[in-house]
Amino acid sequence: MDMEIEAYLRPPEAEMAPYPAKVITLATGKKLVVRQVDRDAVPTLLEAVMPTLQVERDFYDIVGARLYSELLGWYRYRVRDEFCLIGQIDGFLVGIVNSRMFSPDLGISLHTLAIERGMRIGAHLFAAKMEHHIEYLGQEEVLITAESPIGFRRWMIEYNLEKREGQHELGGATPFALTRDLYFRNKERLVAGERPVPPELMGIAEREIVVANEDDILEKILGARRREVQ
Ligand SMILES: CC(C)(COP(=O)(O)OP(=O)(O)OC[C@H]1O[C@@H](n2cnc3c(N)ncnc32)[C@H](O)[C@@H]1OP(=O)(O)O)[C@@H](O)C(=O)NCCC(=O)NCCS
Repeated sequence: MDMEIEAYLRPPEAEMAPYPAKVITLATGKKLVVRQVDRDAVPTLLEAVMPTLQVERDFYDIVGARLYSELLGWYRYRVRDEFCLIGQIDGFLVGIVNSRMFSPDLGISLHTLAIERGMRIGAHLFAAKMEHHIEYLGQEEVLITAESPIGFRRWMIEYNLEKREGQHELGGATPFALTRDLYFRNKERLVAGERPVPPELMGIAEREIVVANEDDILEKILGARRREVQ
């Protein structure tokens, strides 16, 4: 009986093209591997998201809590057509982005979370998820919202997104659209990376998603500010 009910509880699943991994050389010279992960990575990702729930600064708490629930929802088959990309440096998890397909043409951008800061890792991961929506999933448009001023500057302003009527899936906030046209106009300036990822780098990334311990994650997010407060 429960199995029959489960079939109703699970949203239908669409076929989704895979995102080919890439490597971005950051301004510091470090190599950021950006790749798609499957559901089985979720418990590891949740370990990294958990500490952010206690950080009010820059709205990490609300973004962390929502991302936690979206990833868990995907893991437990309760979210429709979600995908997740991660950023790793030397195997370490430094950022997560997730999104979902509303329909074949329309993407809904969910969250962007940077654990390592000051290197535009969040900006690069957001660009990668837009690349996936438009170039690999072949969508016409992505609806985006922001929960923090840094997010607003990074997405709405840097991409000159188009304000739309209606409500975004995240809290009913004002939706902004990245159209195909806008994506390709911004691509050269904002979408970085090379393919294929050299096998050695890919091997390190795939061997293990290394999650820093809670203290290190808080230190990375809060940086000098945390030391001042203590
Ligand atoms: C929004 C976000 C993904 C952007 O990530 P990013 O592109 O890697 O950018 P950072 O957060 O490192 O830096 C943003 C700015 O804050 C500054 N900054 C703030 N706190 C910092 C810290 N502890 N260490 C380093 N830089 C910091 C940076 O100098 C940078 O300035 P710039 O815009 O002039 O480059 C990231 O800030 C984040 O995860 N925020 C919390 C969740 C969130 O708001 N997500 C987006 C929801 S719409």
